[in-house]
Amino acid sequence: MAVVEAGRRVLSNVIHSQVELHAGFGGVVPELAARDHLERLPHLLELALEGAAAKPADVDLIAVTRGPGLAGCLLVGTGVAEGLSAAWSADLTGVNHLWGHIYAALLARLDLEPPLLGLVVSGAHSDLVRMSEHGRFEVLGRTRDDAAGEAFDKAARMLGLGYPGGPALDRLARTGDPRRQRLPRPSLPGLEYSFSGLKTALLYRLRDLGGEPDEQTRADLAAAFEASVVESLLEKLEAALDGEPGDEVVVCGGVAANTLLRRRAAEVVGDRARLTMPPLDLCTDNAAMIAAAGFFGRQHSATVDPSLGWGA
Ligand code: KG4
Ligand code: ZN
Repeated sequence: MAVVEAGRRVLSNVIHSQVELHAGFGGVVPELAARDHLERLPHLLELALEGAAAKPADVDLIAVTRGPGLAGCLLVGTGVAEGLSAAWSADLTGVNHLWGHIYAALLARLDLEPPLLGLVVSGAHSDLVRMSEHGRFEVLGRTRDDAAGEAFDKAARMLGLGYPGGPALDRLARTGDPRRQRLPRPSLPGLEYSFSGLKTALLYRLRDLGGEPDEQTRADLAAAFEASVVESLLEKLEAALDGEPGDEVVVCGGVAANTLLRRRAAEVVGDRARLTMPPLDLCTDNAAMIAAAGFFGRQHSATVDPSLGWGA
């Protein structure tokens, strides 16, 4: 739950993490996730209003994610938003979750405006998009199979790191050497990604090593896996930049919290464009980015097709 003024100024951004709830299961349990949303939202709403020193009467637009996402969670969110909209006589607007990730960058840099080239890397998406204007997105490339975040989560599980995998793999990789256990770098023609082959390569490597690899080997494998994903992501970003030169590049989504990706993205983009990566708390899922996307989407009459993808 977040309160954002004029689509740009974050007055409050309250996040309740469900990590503890799902950790014991090794991944997100959709039914538990939806129930927990329902239980937590009223309190989070109080905190968000309090943090913003705002009253319901101050709120004139309610933005809510319509997709993509887990059906049960989306249902709870839209139900609560519809209720609030009716109770507070505030307008209601539906937002595409992926747009939200891009808008996180606009919250981070107040002078940032489209057109821009975006790399959106999350648990379910690895998309290269051109945002020509507010609410207008064109997908230039995406993954054929696993998303980058999903690949990190699965690799982390293979390395015995549990849930949530991405941040744990990030930490372990810092003590590893990516050259000691080299893994293939996925390379597809054009601007497409594929991470399932890399995942299988890690599986076979672990099998070939036999038994439980020692801590250093696990760290080396984590570093090699991370390097392959990051270099693959950036190779296509660079190719997209060559094909469509522009001034602004945004790298966002949960995986944009990755330490190596942040460092390498800055090196790869260099002075060819201006790179914006949201701060960590705006990279991973949050409500402020949805409020921003809702504000600009409505202002520019962008309608959301909840049938997933980038649907506009
Ligand atoms: O955008 P997000 O918070 O939720 C979705 O919309 O999916 O992204 C979550 C994904 C997860 O796969 C998580 O493991 C990954 O982002 N992630 C990371 C890091 N922090 C989050 N992956 C690599 N390194 C990180 N530091
Ligand atoms: Zn997300």
